[in-house]
Amino acid sequence: MKGFPNYLVALALMALACSIASAYDPAPLQDFCVAANSSTDAVFVNGKFCKDPKFVTANDFFFQGLNIPRSTANLLGSNVTILNVDEIPGLNTLGISLARLDLAPYGLIPPHTHPRASEILVVLEGTLYVGFITSNPDNRFFSKILNVGDVFVFPIGLIHFEFNVGKSNAVAFVGLNSQNPGLITIANNVFGANPAINPDVLIKAFQLDKNVVDYLQKKLFLSNILSAGDRSES
Ligand SMILES: *[C@@H]1O[C@H](CO)[C@@H](O)[C@H](O)[C@H]1NC(C)=O
Ligand SMILES: *[C@@H]1O[C@H](CO)[C@@H](O)[C@H](O)[C@H]1NC(C)=O
Repeated sequence: MKGFPNYLVALALMALACSIASAYDPAPLQDFCVAANSSTDAVFVNGKFCKDPKFVTANDFFFQGLNIPRSTANLLGSNVTILNVDEIPGLNTLGISLARLDLAPYGLIPPHTHPRASEILVVLEGTLYVGFITSNPDNRFFSKILNVGDVFVFPIGLIHFEFNVGKSNAVAFVGLNSQNPGLITIANNVFGANPAINPDVLIKAFQLDKNVVDYLQKKLFLSNILSAGDRSES
């Protein structure tokens, strides 16, 4: 970069860094930008359309009832209640969201990833076996048994799970650093793809027999573990 003043080079590098960083939730450009679904009465755009601040109320930042236990009477024995920008429109552009996890004894939140968020979990009731796995080629597995008051972190994008290994119900809350973290549940995604993936791909990838792949592709994988907000489309 001969001939260019150093500060210009530094500025160019900073601009580059900023454009890379903007692949994540953007930093807020104003105090708030409450989500509106249409542009009809919106004033500016940053993430979602923003509601005209004149019409914003405290309820745009409010949700009630996360103290109520959710039903775990399903295949997995678990229930995830996520509060992201669709439930709390005031979260728009703020880069955070929250979820409540309910797990019956032996209940599982199956291996999944959040493509846009790291997660921090705190156990309020019960005992959870949790873990995440790092990228190839190491595939290192980090796991813990968590009791009440214990906290664990799942780095962005990595496959992780929560399993109730206690004798009573378990409850945990998680924070995520995206207004819309996204959810990819591995089994659902791979074996429940719609339309189905050519079984030859799965036979080879997972080193399985054809009949096992057929069996798995016919299985119904519980996809609505998020009682609100399973958003594969965005
Ligand atoms: C926006 O759309 C979501 C999903 O369809 C809906 O749940 C939410 O209530 C809508 N919000 C507003 C402010 O209309
Ligand atoms: C999660 O709990 C809610 C409230 O108890 C219930 O309506 C919903 O069906 C449950 N979801 C699943 C997948 O069991």
